[in-house]
Amino acid sequence: MGTNLQLKQFDATRAASAESEVIRVEDAHKYYELGETRVHALRGVSIEICRGEFVAIMGASGSGKSTFMNILGCLDRLTSGRYLMEGIDVSKHGKNALALIRSEKLGFVFQGFNLLARTTALENTELPALYAKIDKRERRKRATDALAMVGLAERAQHFPSQMSGGQQQRVAIARALVNRPSILLADEPTGNLDSRTSVEIMEIFQNLNDKGLTIVLVTHEHDIAQFAKRVLVFRDGKIRKDDPVVNRPRANDVLKALPTLED
Ligand SMILES: Nc1ncnc2c1ncn2[C@@H]1O[C@H](COP(=O)(O)OP(=O)(O)OP(=O)(O)O)[C@@H](O)[C@H]1O
Ligand SMILES: [Mg+2]
Repeated sequence: MGTNLQLKQFDATRAASAESEVIRVEDAHKYYELGETRVHALRGVSIEICRGEFVAIMGASGSGKSTFMNILGCLDRLTSGRYLMEGIDVSKHGKNALALIRSEKLGFVFQGFNLLARTTALENTELPALYAKIDKRERRKRATDALAMVGLAERAQHFPSQMSGGQQQRVAIARALVNRPSILLADEPTGNLDSRTSVEIMEIFQNLNDKGLTIVLVTHEHDIAQFAKRVLVFRDGKIRKDDPVVNRPRANDVLKALPTLED
């Protein structure tokens, strides 16, 4: 009887953790074929990431960070191994199914902001919702909300050339949020930004994560990684370290101590 109850409790715990698991990668290998040569970019990566986590990925250039992000983002496929997103094995999905998952479940932010130049902040933000065939009114509403979330409600009608780098990156974040993704993937989102602006971007990420959004972010900067809750270090296509961040700073507090342009 006692054993039975324990077993039941164990099952319940396991079910709960499976439910909260957004990403599960099992023994992932990725080879790139380049003419005669083969690059072994991922060499047996296994990891689980749960809902509400905020993970930073670090590691030397060429260690496989972007390759891994492209897999997580369903932009590329594994050579071997499995990738389950929200319990669904997407490693066997074809191109169309992957495109649908990208549109519905994933938000992307890159180092270059990739905004359309002749298009306003609002229209840039709307784009993924347009592709997802969401009707015009709902699209507008969602884009307006997303811009407000990144503190750019007042800049909706500005063109990229009329905004600072930090503001452009915030538009890119709003655009990534407009389809209400389960996971936000960011590959060096602060790579082109000065240090204060970088911390401002991390403040937005921390706020979004507080609201439950799962975030995976690649960065070369140790100080930026510390704003996450967990840090992975890649080396030679493998995860060499996986540690929780202790005494995680709040970007909001760090900003108070940083000089502003006016100082
Ligand atoms: N499309 C590709 N074709 C062939 N080889 C590739 C391709 N993309 C990446 N590689 C190789 O795979 C390895 C991992 O590259 P990846 O871009 O994942 O590194 P990274 O950790 O993101 O580096 P960085 O910090 O410079 O962005 C490298 O050896 C790289 O040269
Ligand atoms: Mg990279």
